[in-house]
Amino acid sequence: MVPGLPNDRSPGMKPCSVMLAVVLFGVLMLNIVSAQNAGFVKSPMSETKLTGDTFELYCDVIGSPTPEIQWWYAEINRADSFKQLWDGARKRRVSINTAYGTNGVSVLGITRLTLEDSGTYECRASNDPRRNDLRQNPAITWIRAQATISVLQKPKIDASDHLILPTDSSSPPITLQCNLTNAPSVHRESFWMKNKVEIPESRGNLKNTEYKVSKPRADDSGEYMCVYTFEAAPPANATIEVKAAPDITGHKRSENKNEGQSAILYCKSVGYPHPKWIWRKLSGGVSAEIDNSTGRFFINSRDNYTELTILKLDINTDPGIYECNATNIIGHTSKPSILRVRSYLAPLWPFLGVLAEIIILVIIIVVYEKRRKPDEEPEGRLRYPFPPSDKPHPPCLVHSSSDLAGCYS
Ligand SMILES: *[C@@H]1O[C@H](CO)[C@@H](O)[C@H](O)[C@H]1NC(C)=O
Ligand SMILES: *[C@@H]1O[C@H](CO)[C@@H](O)[C@H](O)[C@H]1NC(C)=O
Ligand SMILES: *[C@@H]1O[C@H](CO)[C@@H](O)[C@H](O)[C@H]1NC(C)=O
Ligand SMILES: *[C@@H]1O[C@H](CO)[C@@H](O)[C@H](O)[C@H]1NC(C)=O
Ligand SMILES: *[C@@H]1O[C@H](CO)[C@@H](O)[C@H](O)[C@H]1NC(C)=O
Repeated sequence: MVPGLPNDRSPGMKPCSVMLAVVLFGVLMLNIVSAQNAGFVKSPMSETKLTGDTFELYCDVIGSPTPEIQWWYAEINRADSFKQLWDGARKRRVSINTAYGTNGVSVLGITRLTLEDSGTYECRASNDPRRNDLRQNPAITWIRAQATISVLQKPKIDASDHLILPTDSSSPPITLQCNLTNAPSVHRESFWMKNKVEIPESRGNLKNTEYKVSKPRADDSGEYMCVYTFEAAPPANATIEVKAAPDITGHKRSENKNEGQSAILYCKSVGYPHPKWIWRKLSGGVSAEIDNSTGRFFINSRDNYTELTILKLDINTDPGIYECNATNIIGHTSKPSILRVRSYLAPLWPFLGVLAEIIILVIIIVVYEKRRKPDEEPEGRLRYPFPPSDKPHPPCLVHSSSDLAGCYS
């Protein structure tokens, strides 16, 4: 007999103990699966910023139950003295927005940066039930992720004043200037941008930079910017606005449509700032609001472009001269468009013309034939197509040989 074999013991115990073990194991597994320690999905990133700028740090934490998130701060080289940060701290320049869902997500933002905002920012997260127990070492119950924010003095750029281009096209040449007078780091390069797009071949490496326009037109107006890049600091820039009254450079001069169709009139402009657009209708030499009581007029304007759509054209009220008017703080201008509306029958006219011609032709032929008849009397005399027989046949009146086919006795 082999000792320890189960069949030696009481047979009733075996299923019972196995079941207990399974239940215990299951509860244990359930605990392991449902409780998950906090872990970072996204942690804050170190950055260098300029005074006056804004920064945001992101922290995204996974765990079950959803971890709690806190933000802490320590001055540079004082990593031993972290203080907790609150929403609205530092004269309301600090904002903390946290959302708890399946993940905990938090955004720390600081606006109008000063040199004193430099330091170490720490995202702390925990879902440990003992996390707020003062007897516990926070280093064990909280996980931490750090980012270093360096704030540098903003470089000083002396830029030309804003300009206004004269309305007539004979503007003298303009020169835009930027002088870098004070920089926190070695300056690398400078370039110019117009309306947020880099101007090609405007890169250079001097501290004083210029951009010239020899024959400025309304098209040259816009928001110019000189940008300086640095070895160890974020780029800095200065803006020079060159303003000009709007000039309408494209529009639909006339539109011909049939009643019931839709008409689209448009205007586009140059000039800065982008204009406000108005559409009006000229009646008797006076421009007036468009009467939209029928709800068929739609205006779609964006920046330097405007479009007037008229649905289901009405031949009685819609034809006329429409005017787009562009206005910005420097000036205003307008351009007319003529709208012609033809009747439903208009497309039939060519067809009706042909039809009329045919009818007239037929009438002429008939009249002509009628008039010719008396002259042709000899040929049109009574004829007997078959040799005369005893019985009199009904006669055929023959005008031409083809008529013969219809004659039989
Ligand atoms: C930039 O510097 C040049 C040369 O020193 C000077 O002539 C110019 O007036 C300065 N421009 C501005 C906008 O300060
Ligand atoms: C210009 O500087 C401002 C303020 O520092 C910054 O927010 C902006 O992104 C910069 N723009 C460009 C095009 O560099
Ligand atoms: C109108 O503005 C867009 C961008 O806002 C630009 O791409 C386009 O060239 C401008 N058109 C004119 C006629 O200035
Ligand atoms: C004209 O009326 C329609 C319908 O009420 C409206 O959707 C549209 O914006 C109006 N158009 C103008 C130019 O006011
Ligand atoms: C354009 O509209 C402005 C503002 O309503 C007005 O002062 C100006 O006379 C209009 N200009 C033209 C050319 O119609």
